[in-house]
Amino acid sequence: MSGWGSGYVTDIAYMTGYYRHQSPSLMALACLLGGAASPLPAPDDPVSYLELGCGQGLGALILAASNPRWTVTAIDFNPAHVAAARAWAAQAGLANIRFLEADLATLAEDAVAAAVPSADFVSLHGVWSWVPRAVQSGIVRLLRAKVTPGGAVHVSYNALPAWGSALGMQRLVRDSGRRLAMRSDRQAEEGLKLARDLQAAEALQLKRSPLAMSLLERTGGMPASYLAHEYMNDSFAPCFHADVAGALADAKLEWIASANLIENFPELTMSPEQRAVTQRLDDPLLRELVKDTCLERSLRHDVFVRGARRITPAARDAALMDLHLALNIRPEDMPYEANVPAGQAALNRSFYGPITQALAKAPRRVGELLAIPDLDGRRDNPAELVGMLVGLELAEPALRAGAEPTPQALRCNRAMLASLGRTESFGRPLAAASHALGAGAPCTLFDLYVIDRLQAGEDGGQMDAWISDLGSNLDENGQGRLRETFVRALRTRLPILRAQGVF
Ligand SMILES: C[S@@+](CC[C@H](N)C(=O)[O-])C[C@H]1O[C@@H](n2cnc3c(N)ncnc32)[C@H](O)[C@@H]1O
Repeated sequence: MSGWGSGYVTDIAYMTGYYRHQSPSLMALACLLGGAASPLPAPDDPVSYLELGCGQGLGALILAASNPRWTVTAIDFNPAHVAAARAWAAQAGLANIRFLEADLATLAEDAVAAAVPSADFVSLHGVWSWVPRAVQSGIVRLLRAKVTPGGAVHVSYNALPAWGSALGMQRLVRDSGRRLAMRSDRQAEEGLKLARDLQAAEALQLKRSPLAMSLLERTGGMPASYLAHEYMNDSFAPCFHADVAGALADAKLEWIASANLIENFPELTMSPEQRAVTQRLDDPLLRELVKDTCLERSLRHDVFVRGARRITPAARDAALMDLHLALNIRPEDMPYEANVPAGQAALNRSFYGPITQALAKAPRRVGELLAIPDLDGRRDNPAELVGMLVGLELAEPALRAGAEPTPQALRCNRAMLASLGRTESFGRPLAAASHALGAGAPCTLFDLYVIDRLQAGEDGGQMDAWISDLGSNLDENGQGRLRETFVRALRTRLPILRAQGVF
């Protein structure tokens, strides 16, 4: 471990990823569902967006490319991350994004802070519970100086009490890995191997923690760079929500809601008995502690506002009625039962069916959807419709429904394909920049590849050439599967991505 990282992993770059909770639309929707006036950006708003601990910056790049009028600033202390992010921004020709190399522990007092504009939206994903206290305090001082009045801040962190049962497993992985003179990703892999051997030997502290068991299973297929940054930091410490809220209160930030929209609906997250206990409590922080006690919520996505203005349910509904939604799935793939924390939620077919059919034609306003004739369900509850469709990732909010792709977004998507196509699995979930959504549209590199070929004037008739291009090292079966993937992309994914304004 190098000296400058203060115990944070610096010997291997963090994996690239896009996380929809970081987008201003999701933050704004969370605010509305939490009953606070939402700064949902209008199409031409010159939003200032700030990301702290941005890694290689993919999320910030996609947001900048999707919203050319926004000013995006993204900060990380690892020069390898900043160099990769800047190269990407240059390749995509983005003029509205700036990557700064700075240590969040001291940035607020540093001259570099002058280069950080006031921000309407801020996101810190995968940072808070992985960095030392001194860095957390520095983040709070920076937020105090930079968040605009009414601005929203998204903070994700590993949460207690759910993470508590896996703390022993994390310590075992880190301490055993550390003994080896290896790079931190290899150390994490060796530590995890030891933990899996103990799991197979029925070690009690692993066996009785469902979280530890599921983490050991899931980490089997995770990129090495993720494992290093997740398990090998000195200061990794999951947190209670009230402690994070207490720390951020010094930046005048107030907790409003979860960017995991489903979690804002007590009936979808808790049993009737659990809700009855929760309703005895007025204090929102205590309610969240109760919720965290009832749920298996090991990663929280909290949204805070500086100077929250409370709104009436009628004002909230009016704002939600104006939102446009764009479908993420084909109507025939609509699930009418969904897993939610409280169990199974049924989505009424004669309500969600016609709504999904209408959305399949084009993105629509929520108000329009709820005015469809003969809907069997509550037309006066836009919060539920938005919460279910966006919360279950069946639809995305669209800030500029129907807008054409911008050159910036097209270039960004090509740059992603060119650079990630060399190193990443083509099937990994990613996102494409979309001016219509004002955020990333969920897709894979396969989807981006096919879009790229279509834009080069090709069509499905050239599929043999695509297969030779991507699958030259595959045997006949592998090439057959690749063909199926391309056929599926053309038939099922591309129409959705076109409706979402990706190409
Ligand atoms: C787990 S990664 C998350 C990266 C990115 N937000 C994402 O979700 O892909 C945490 C990031 O915080 C950065 N970081 C850690 N300590 C920092 C510090 N003191 N100042 C600035 N960045 C820091 C790391 O370099 C790393 O990129």
